[in-house]
Amino acid sequence: MKKIFLKINLLFVFMTIVSFGFCAEEGGGNPNFYPNLAAYLVGITGALVIAGTLTLLVKLLNQVVKLREIEILTDKGLEEYIEVKKANQESWWTRFMRSMTDLVPVEKEKDILLNHNYDGIQELDNNLPPWWLYGFYLSIGIAIFYIGYYHFSSNAMSSAEEYALEMQQSQDAVDRFLAKQADRIDESNLVALADVTALADGENIFNSLCIACHMQGGGGAPGSVGPNLTDDYWLHGGSIKDVFKTVKYGVPEKGMISWKDQLRPVEMHKVSSYILSLRGTNPPNAKEPQGELYEAVEVVTQDSTVTEMK
Ligand code: HEC
Repeated sequence: MKKIFLKINLLFVFMTIVSFGFCAEEGGGNPNFYPNLAAYLVGITGALVIAGTLTLLVKLLNQVVKLREIEILTDKGLEEYIEVKKANQESWWTRFMRSMTDLVPVEKEKDILLNHNYDGIQELDNNLPPWWLYGFYLSIGIAIFYIGYYHFSSNAMSSAEEYALEMQQSQDAVDRFLAKQADRIDESNLVALADVTALADGENIFNSLCIACHMQGGGGAPGSVGPNLTDDYWLHGGSIKDVFKTVKYGVPEKGMISWKDQLRPVEMHKVSSYILSLRGTNPPNAKEPQGELYEAVEVVTQDSTVTEMK
């Protein structure tokens, strides 16, 4: 007991020094230095009072235990007294294990034997092991908390919501992957697009970037910079791959820009398909044919996602 007192006293001396240090550090020229110090000292005094009370309580408890032991000694005799004394001297672990298992020692088993006997098989009426029981209560508590938290509060997602979120995330990943795939189109794996939206997109691109030289409708005009893209004559070939290549790399020395840095592959694919869809439209006032006659042999697909040659 004296040791405990000594320890507590040492602790407070230590705390006082620390709080002085703390105040001094905070309060270099700080007008709050003394109020702070006063507050710390009040705090320490309070803590001292609490610690003193606690020590007294421990002392009292010890007295009560001693009294109880004497009581047992006088009431029940030496044997019981020794047993209680022994139990008190057991390590906390042994006591803990005993309280958790509630095991009945073999010599006392006859007290809990049930009075039936089938072919020599008998039954002991043991209590449920407390460790198990506590686990059971704990799981009930956790279940109540869990249901409230995950199903009725807005703080956490339910399994269904988590599932939906994960599905959404993987869908996003798939979309990103497909978008990347779409950008991997190049002249080696092209088929002309035929679906209306893709061609409309192509037309928009054409109208905003290409009509300056190729004219609205792609027919060019007599004396225009760009050639007629609606006839069967091509300077650089009339297949989708040829057209795509011309758009992608351009013919810089002749005034046709390379578009690969300004348009994404999908966009070049769409505008090239749009150009091919203009074939035979004969816009008025078109430019005269240039280049060689090209006979279309390409299979046109309805599916804008197919990018292989048929
Ligand atoms: C600055 C003017 C100019 C612009 C803008 C322009 N082109 Fe051209 N384009 C040309 C010229 C000039 C040629 C002919 C090149 C040659 O003589 O080899 C040409 C040729 C082409 C050809 C090949 C035609 C053939 O007969 O082989 C295609 C396809 C084409 N352009 C598509 C486009 C597309 C698509 C755009 C818009 C994204 C575009 N061009 C924008 C000037 C232009």
